[in-house]
Amino acid sequence: MPPGEGQAGQLRIGVLASGRGSNLQAIIDAIEAGTLRATIALVLSNKQDAQALERARHHGCSDVFLDPKPYAGQPDSREAYDRAILDVLKKHEVELVVLAGYMKIVTPVLIKAYENRMMNIHPSLLPSFPGLEAQKKALDWGVKLAGCTVHFVTEGVDEGPIIIQAAVPVLEGDTTEALSARILEQEHRIYPQAIQLYAERRLQVEGRRVRVFGLSASGPSPRT
Ligand code: GAR
Repeated sequence: MPPGEGQAGQLRIGVLASGRGSNLQAIIDAIEAGTLRATIALVLSNKQDAQALERARHHGCSDVFLDPKPYAGQPDSREAYDRAILDVLKKHEVELVVLAGYMKIVTPVLIKAYENRMMNIHPSLLPSFPGLEAQKKALDWGVKLAGCTVHFVTEGVDEGPIIIQAAVPVLEGDTTEALSARILEQEHRIYPQAIQLYAERRLQVEGRRVRVFGLSASGPSPRT
C-alpha cells in the first residue's frame, strides 16, 4: 500500500520536516511494511531543497514547500506562517502532525489547533539536553546513557508529555557523529511505534504523563 494512499478510515498524518528526512523514511518504510497503519496525507517543509520532500515524491506522497520568506516582514511573522501551515494541514485533512527534524519553533497557532495531536522526536533523553546539538551536549556532559524521546508538542520547547524513550550507551571514544548514528537507529524504531500507538488510540495524556493502554498492568484500552 503506497504510504500516501491508505485505506479509508486510516489515521491521516502530516509530516513537517526541514532536512534529510530519515525519520520520514522510517515512517514510510513502516507503512510499506504494514507495521504502521496510517496514511501520509502530506509532507510539508520550510526548505525547498529538503531531502524529505524528495523522499515524499519518490514514494507518491503529497509534498508541499511553504516558503517562510513572504511572511518574514509581518509583525507576527511566525504566527502568520503557522496559520498558512494550518490551512494546508486542514486542506489535507491531517489528524496527527508529526514533526520529523522540523527545525523551526512551532507557535501556539499550530499547537492549540493540534493539542495532543502533534508529536516531535528529539535526540536526547528529555528533559536532559533540549534544543539544538543535543547529542554533542550529552557527550560533553559525560553521560553514560544517551537516547531519544518522542513527545507531544506543547508551548515549551521539547517539554511536552513523553510518549516513548529509547536509551543507548555512550561508548569510550565516541564522537558526536557515532553517538548520533546510534541514537538515530533508535529514533527510526520508536517514532513509527509511537504513531501506531496513537493510531490505535492507545495514548492518553494525563497532565505530564502519557498513559499507554494495552501494555501490561495499564488496564483496558479506552475503546473497550
Ligand atoms: C533527528 O535526529 C531528530 O531527532 C532531530 O533532527 C534530526 C532529523 O533527522 N530533531 C531535533 O533535534 C528537534 N529538536 P532526519 O531529518 O534525518 O529525520
